[in-house]
Amino acid sequence: MSLKPEITNKINKLKKEKNAVILAHCYQNIEIDEIADFVGDSLYLSRRASETDADIIVFAGVYFMAETAKILSPHKKVLLPRPESGCLMADMINAEELRKFKAKHPGASVVCYVNSEAEIKAESDICCTSANAVKVVKSLPAEEILFVPDRGLGAYIAGQIPEKKVTSYYGYCPTHMRILPEDILELKNRYKNAEVLVHPECHMEIIKLADFVGSTSGIMNRVKQSGSDCFIIATERGVLERLQRDYPERHFVLASEKAICENMKWNRPEDVLISLEKEVHEVFVEENIRQKAYTAIKKMLDISRATPAGK
Ligand code: 13P
Ligand code: SF4
Repeated sequence: MSLKPEITNKINKLKKEKNAVILAHCYQNIEIDEIADFVGDSLYLSRRASETDADIIVFAGVYFMAETAKILSPHKKVLLPRPESGCLMADMINAEELRKFKAKHPGASVVCYVNSEAEIKAESDICCTSANAVKVVKSLPAEEILFVPDRGLGAYIAGQIPEKKVTSYYGYCPTHMRILPEDILELKNRYKNAEVLVHPECHMEIIKLADFVGSTSGIMNRVKQSGSDCFIIATERGVLERLQRDYPERHFVLASEKAICENMKWNRPEDVLISLEKEVHEVFVEENIRQKAYTAIKKMLDISRATPAGK
């Protein structure tokens, strides 16, 4: 589906007038890419947010992503066109629960997934995204790591770094957990030569069936480098749609029709237009929390080198 030219024109004009940029996550409705300046995964967009000299950032994504942009760019106006777009996983832990979790594991280092609110980042030693989680955890001297909030990614990290004790919180991503082993087995049977590409938020039983495990950018780079012409994509539908658009000569199958993040799909180009035009739905972070959260994110950005998957 292509955007109405009047919407595209209005947004492009406003971007110039207001010195604004639009950042879009790969799980957004694909037509958003037509008006976005940068499209990619969480790590890529965090980097773009930290580097832009725009006055306004419109974040086409979910709340924690816009909040992360605000933490990195406190003097810029950050807008989330649909403010109700939260991340269900991020909502599974609050600061009080994290403090209790930490109290049970004195001496452990706390690593928070970027899919968490500012208060959680402020209580953590370092942040990570799915693209750099293993690298971040390996970089820490502590033997015990508390990983919050995603038990899926936590289990994957634990498997990659057996020399460390990784204790995960119980959070999970409902979108990725809806992908079942039988979905993959059935598709593997149907598409015998397909490569199975899996996001590490999936259940361990899905990860065991993967030919490749990686973040959004990891999956996209894998397709770029692979000689295969058929892929089973075990992550959110937006990734599949972008791969189909970018590689029309190859065949992509979604591991499950249920792998859709509803919160990512609320945002429409019309919402982007309204928020930019009226400068509404601004995201704020209390300064004391922001500074502590900034430290955790900055440490991550310093130790990880981006694997860009975007425009
Ligand atoms: P990425 O870090 O791969 O962008 O994933 C973000 C996310 O929300 C996955 O569910
Ligand atoms: Fe959150 Fe899962 Fe949606 Fe990602 S896919 S934003 S982890 S609910």
